[in-house]
Amino acid sequence: MSAVGMKTACVTGGNGYIASALIKMLLQKGYAVNTTVRNPDDMRKNSHLKGLEALGTLKVFRADLDEDGSFDEAVNGCDYAFLVAAPVNLQSENPEVNS
Ligand SMILES: NC(=O)c1ccc[n+]([C@@H]2O[C@H](COP(=O)([O-])OP(=O)(O)OC[C@H]3O[C@@H](n4cnc5c(N)ncnc54)[C@H](OP(=O)(O)O)[C@@H]3O)[C@@H](O)[C@H]2O)c1
Repeated sequence: MSAVGMKTACVTGGNGYIASALIKMLLQKGYAVNTTVRNPDDMRKNSHLKGLEALGTLKVFRADLDEDGSFDEAVNGCDYAFLVAAPVNLQSENPEVNS
């Protein structure tokens, strides 16, 4: 829980479709949100997160599923974790089954 008693949720893959909607909903409901992206400096992918910061407490962390421990800082101290980051292989014949 955050210092002011607000519940904190971690949402991984913050520039993704599902995660972006989830972050917005959580902030609107009064949760503090920690989110992760692979490259925080990529404003082409992350600029919407700047807009969402206006809705509440949003912190962005760098993390990659291929790097052990890289999600630790974002998840640490959170009340909830929504693990939404996922590699999506658009070349797959069936992306819902094969990544
Ligand atoms: N969209 C739907 O309607 C829907 C419906 C049912 C289930 N789902 C499931 O929900 C999940 C998210 O779907 P989505 O539509 O939101 O996908 P998306 O828009 O492609 O987002 C995927 C996210 O995962 C991140 N990611 C990919 N590989 C990563 C890695 N190695 N390390 C860290 N982050 C990584 C991407 O970050 P980068 O931008 O940095 O690559 C991106 O933020 C998937 O498992 C999908 O199968 C989606």
